Amino acid sequence: MYDLVIEGRILADGSPVDAYLCIEGGRIARVCKQPPVSGEYGEFHRQGRSLLLPGVIDTHVHFRDPGMTSKEDFTTGSISAAFGGVTTVIDMPNTRPPTIDLGSLMVKERIASTGSVIDYGLNLAIMGGSDLMAVDTLLKGGANAPAPVGLKAFLGDTTGSLVFGTISSLSKWSPVVENTGAVLALHAEDGSLFEPVKDPEDVKDILLQHSRARPAASEASAIQKATEALGEQAGNAHILHVSTEAGLQAARSSRATVEVTPHHLLMDTKWCERNLEMQAMGKVNPPLRTPSDRAALWGGIADGTVDTIGSDHAPHLIEEKSQGYLSPSGMPGVETMAPLLLSEVSKRRLDMNRFVELCCSSPADRYSLAGKGRIAEGSLADIMVVNLREGRKIKGDGLHSRCGWTPYEGMVGVFPGMVYSRGEPIIDGENLCGKPGRGNNVRA
Ligand code: DOR
Ligand code: ZN
Repeated sequence: MYDLVIEGRILADGSPVDAYLCIEGGRIARVCKQPPVSGEYGEFHRQGRSLLLPGVIDTHVHFRDPGMTSKEDFTTGSISAAFGGVTTVIDMPNTRPPTIDLGSLMVKERIASTGSVIDYGLNLAIMGGSDLMAVDTLLKGGANAPAPVGLKAFLGDTTGSLVFGTISSLSKWSPVVENTGAVLALHAEDGSLFEPVKDPEDVKDILLQHSRARPAASEASAIQKATEALGEQAGNAHILHVSTEAGLQAARSSRATVEVTPHHLLMDTKWCERNLEMQAMGKVNPPLRTPSDRAALWGGIADGTVDTIGSDHAPHLIEEKSQGYLSPSGMPGVETMAPLLLSEVSKRRLDMNRFVELCCSSPADRYSLAGKGRIAEGSLADIMVVNLREGRKIKGDGLHSRCGWTPYEGMVGVFPGMVYSRGEPIIDGENLCGKPGRGNNVRA
C-alpha cells in the first residue's frame, strides 16, 4: 500500500518518459511505467506532462537567523526556498552569534528545527583561533548535536567578521579534514590583493569599481594558496562562487570542486551599465565580473569544471542597498535560482540533465546527503513539478524572502507548480502547505 502515487514524466537517460512514482514513508518506493491498481495507494496526483525533477539542494544560503532576522529568518528563508523548488538548504555561519562552536551550533539547530519548512544542514565557520579538536568532535557527531555538514572559511573580508586569517595556515586543518572527510567550503578572495577604492562616496560605476577593488587576481591567488596549503586534502575543498576565468583556471589546476552562482552566470558589469539605478543591488562578494569572465563560467559548466550551482542567497534590506558603494554586499537568490536556470533550459542554453546534476545530484554527492538529489527507487521523495512552458516574469514583491526585492526584476523564471518534501506537498501553486518546523537536519 503506497501513501501516494504521482503521475508525470521523469528523465530517463536524459529524455522525458511517462512514469508513476509510488511514495511510501517519504521515499520513492517504486518507479513504474504502468499505474498501480487502485486500492494499492492512498492518494493519486496527476501531473500530466509536467516533469518530476528532484528537489533542488542549495548548498549556499545565508538565512540571517539568529541575529539579523529583520532581513530573513529560517522560516521566511525556507519558505522562499520551497517556492523556488529548493527542498534542502545548507546555511552559512555568518549570523549573530556566528556558528563557530557547540553552543552556537545548538542555538542555530533549535532555530532551524523549529522554524524550517524544508530539510537543512548547517555549516560551521573556522578561523585562526578555532579549537581544532572541538571542531573535529563536532564533525564526527560526537558532541550531542547534529554534526555540521561542512566547514566554511572566509578567506577574504566580507559580510560579518569571520575572516579566517593567513591563508597558508589552512594547512593545520588538513588532518581534521582528512580524519572527518568534511567538506571545506572556501570563500576564496585574497585580501592582501584588494585595492582601495579612492572615494567610496563618489563612486559612479559602483560595480566596475567594486570588481577592480577585489580583482580577479585575488580570487585566483586565494584558490592557489588555499589548495597548496591543504596539500593532499585539497580534494576536500569546495571553492564557492567562483566568478572569474582566472579563478576557474586556478581551480582547474587543483583537486578542489567548484561552485558558481546564478548571479555570476546571469549578470555582469555590462548588465550594470544598463541598469544604473539598480547598481547597488548587484554589489556582491566576489563582485559581478566582465562579460568574458561570465562566458568563461558558462564554459566551465559545459566542460564539467563546475560541480555545483549555489545561490549565495544573501538578503539585505532595500534601505541598506540604497547607499551606493556603501551598501552591503549580497543579494537574495534562493527562490529564483532554479526558475532562472530552468528558463535557460527552456531557451536551450543549458542542458536539462546538466541542470539536475549541478543543482541536485552533485550537491547531494558532494555533501554526502544520503537519499537526496535523485528521482530513483529508495530516494527520498523530494520532488519539484516543472512545466518548461510556464515561464513568468519575476517580481520582487511576489517572492517570499523577507527582504522583498530581487535583482532579477522582470526576468523570466520557470517556477515549479508543486513541490514535495519527503512525499508531503509543501507548495501547491501559489499556496504554501508545508508547516514551519517540519524540516529535518540532514545529519540528525
Ligand atoms: O556578497 C556577499 N554577501 N558575500 C559573502 O560572502 C557574504 C554575503 C552576506 O552574508 O551578505
Ligand atoms: Zn555566501
